[in-house]
Amino acid sequence: MSGEDSHTESVIPLEKRHAAAAADLHIRGISTGFLSSLGPAFLEQIYKALPRCRAGFGYVWEDNGRVLGFIACAESTGRLYKQSLLRRGILMALPLVRFMFRWSVIKRLWQTLRYPADVGTDVPAAEMLSIAVDESARGRGVGQALVAAAVEEFRRRGIDRFKVAVWAGNDTANAFYERCGFELALQREHHGLPMKVYVIDTARSS
Ligand SMILES: CC(C)(COP(=O)(O)OP(=O)(O)OC[C@H]1O[C@@H](n2cnc3c(N)ncnc32)[C@H](O)[C@@H]1OP(=O)(O)O)[C@@H](O)C(=O)NCCC(=O)NCCS
Repeated sequence: MSGEDSHTESVIPLEKRHAAAAADLHIRGISTGFLSSLGPAFLEQIYKALPRCRAGFGYVWEDNGRVLGFIACAESTGRLYKQSLLRRGILMALPLVRFMFRWSVIKRLWQTLRYPADVGTDVPAAEMLSIAVDESARGRGVGQALVAAAVEEFRRRGIDRFKVAVWAGNDTANAFYERCGFELALQREHHGLPMKVYVIDTARSS
């Protein structure tokens, strides 16, 4: 995908400096998601915490220094939540103060924290949490390159199987995951929306 002259495109590990761009891509790309509704400041804290947590990692797609895509993953989503709260709990809580008296938001936050335990033991704990590519860069293999980087890092950590949960109505993402080799494992409701949980076994699909 490299262009001409000094044009540089590459997949690199997500660092703290990429957090604001990742939060922006998340909000624009996954607008129906509950996390998006909590606002960019909260998401930015999440993506600042990610590279500092042993249970998590991410990658970004950079095009001449501009972040045009990102992926976020966890060895175990439950462990990542705990580590994030320990590292940046107060900073993560600050953007949520405005929701303090909104019971529906608190309930959904609790459901989000409970989700790793609720999803059951038949699916792996390791998870691809989010992926988004800027509209201008879609359909050029950026998403697949980000998934390939995640697969490699999971393998380096000794993990062959991981899952992804997606809103059943997101046709593009469902087609994308199937193209990447994910197989439908179960369907369930999350925050009142039908979700599909896919699993990939990279030892089998390689
Ligand atoms: C899903 C998403 C990350 C895909 O990124 P992308 O860089 O456009 O994907 P790629 O170019 O690597 O496409 C890989 C494959 O996915 C499938 N795919 C991608 N976009 C598709 C679309 N709009 N319709 C159908 N299939 C599609 C194709 O099979 C494609 O392979 P092909 O080009 O060989 O046919 C991107 O569309 C996006 O950011 N969407 C908004 C955010 C989102 O919904 N994230 C998932 C929820 S967490």
